[in-house]
Amino acid sequence: SVIQEEKVVEAAPQPTEQTVSKEVTILYGSQTGNAQRLAENAGKTLDANGFQVKVSSMNDFKPNNLKKVENLLIVVSTHGEGEPPDNALSFHEFLHGRRAPKLENLRFSVLSLGDSSYEFFCHTGKEFDERLEALGGTRLTTRVDCDLDFEEPAAEWLAGVLSSLSNAGQSGTTTSSNDVAVTQVGESVYSRSNPFNAEVLENLNLNGRGSNKETRHLELSLEGSGLTFEPGDSLGVYPTNDPTLVENLLKELNWSADEKVTVNKQGDQLTLKEALTSQYEITVITKPILEQVANLSGNTELQQLVASGSEKVKEYIDGRDVLDLVRDFSAWGNSAQEFVSLLRKMPPRLYSIASSLSANPEEVHLTIGAVRYDSHGRERNGVCSILCAERLAPGDTLPVFIQHNQNFKLPENPETPVIMVGPGTGIAPFRSFMQEREEIGAEGPSWLFFGDQHFVTDFLYQIEWQKWIKDGILTKMDVAFSRDTDEKVYVQHRMMEQSKELFDWLQKGAAVYICGDEKHMAHDVHTTLLAIIEKEGNMSQDQAKEYLAAMQQQKRYQRDVY
Ligand code: 2AM
Repeated sequence: SVIQEEKVVEAAPQPTEQTVSKEVTILYGSQTGNAQRLAENAGKTLDANGFQVKVSSMNDFKPNNLKKVENLLIVVSTHGEGEPPDNALSFHEFLHGRRAPKLENLRFSVLSLGDSSYEFFCHTGKEFDERLEALGGTRLTTRVDCDLDFEEPAAEWLAGVLSSLSNAGQSGTTTSSNDVAVTQVGESVYSRSNPFNAEVLENLNLNGRGSNKETRHLELSLEGSGLTFEPGDSLGVYPTNDPTLVENLLKELNWSADEKVTVNKQGDQLTLKEALTSQYEITVITKPILEQVANLSGNTELQQLVASGSEKVKEYIDGRDVLDLVRDFSAWGNSAQEFVSLLRKMPPRLYSIASSLSANPEEVHLTIGAVRYDSHGRERNGVCSILCAERLAPGDTLPVFIQHNQNFKLPENPETPVIMVGPGTGIAPFRSFMQEREEIGAEGPSWLFFGDQHFVTDFLYQIEWQKWIKDGILTKMDVAFSRDTDEKVYVQHRMMEQSKELFDWLQKGAAVYICGDEKHMAHDVHTTLLAIIEKEGNMSQDQAKEYLAAMQQQKRYQRDVY
């Protein structure tokens, strides 16, 4: 029979192959797209090595199928105070709940992404790892926790997975696990690890005179890059550090600015000044950095601080930078090379793209809020935003790459109604959405909620929105200017005022998009959505939660929050 023939084909020389599965399921939970890309790359590599691989978002995976999975790889990031990404929420809840199955036959491994400047570093990955073990699973290889600079540890994790899977005699075509090629998705040669130098075409302040805010509108050229993107995608930007901060840091250090240091595994050398300007993060100190500096510097005061517990460490690093660290605990015994090796590589900043490629071919526009604040008696600047605000003129270039984001996509059907909530710089992707919908002649209704401090100075892209309204491309627009009235009005208040109509839109299948501040705005808008569903749908709290969770599952509730 056909089945027997298949078996003959599958059965290779080694008898073990009949008993162990060559099937691997890779599930990712991804907010910004990094975990997704790594999962897809892992899938390609395993596929090339003779495995049958299924890659999917946790959201798209039916939990009841978990029992049937023999080899499971999890790639997941952590957000905020240790929370899973949106598309991991339901699977995470299922796995940690009472209905989670026993998984004695499961072999698994977890790759977790995070940021070591956060207290709950890689928390979600750790949770999955521990839970899968508790349910009876066996590790293929130990979990790897990646900091912002994730490419190398991720490749090492994949090599470990491949070697473990192959050692079970499963693959005939595996080459040495050391030469695992992590391929890049996309057609352009430019990527996160090989950014494109994009020329600045335009750089404007969108806010009027007298505003508390400075929001930059940047237009960059992608000409010749081959880079493409869709509305909802982000642009990664590699900034350079503030030259004054670098100068001040060099003054505090014992080493010459011209001393050469090696900045990567390939052995490339730069002067200390260049390295501190473009290669390393100097505006954040993490707990691991503080601990390592304490060990290596021999500074007893610093060693005492580290020994006094993580609360004290947290209190110290909060709002301080490498210059503070050097000023507070200087006279170190180590070399410039040792010093830079302790620092984190300069992470790229991700900005939601504010233009559509079909409306603006070979260009990409960004909306960037300038970040300035005082901390521990010193003025501090956002690295990338202040570079854009103060040191970037038309003709200059910025190293950029496209970060595809499958979690913030316009509905496939252009007739689906869309509701967009984007106060402040959260407006960016919706400008892209509208440009795209205008371009393709989308017929579905659209509704924008925008908010900022003052109507006169802070109505970002006002003329464009008004034109879209006039042309019928945008159906409805509600604005909340929080500081024009005695009492604060926010976007969620405008939503609540129109709860009936908003719920009608939801019932008609509308997709809701939220972009902007995560901690306060997105949280409050979420709560408001629940209240609207509860009230207008005559539902209990639990039912409203289920309604919104189902929308999320259907990709009708998507968030791009930061
Ligand atoms: P505020 O600064 O006057 O408090 C964009 O930054 C807009 O978002 C501003 O009008 C800001 O108001 C507002 N904002 C601040 N906190 C918010 C929250 N929790 N929910 C919604 N909007 C908020």
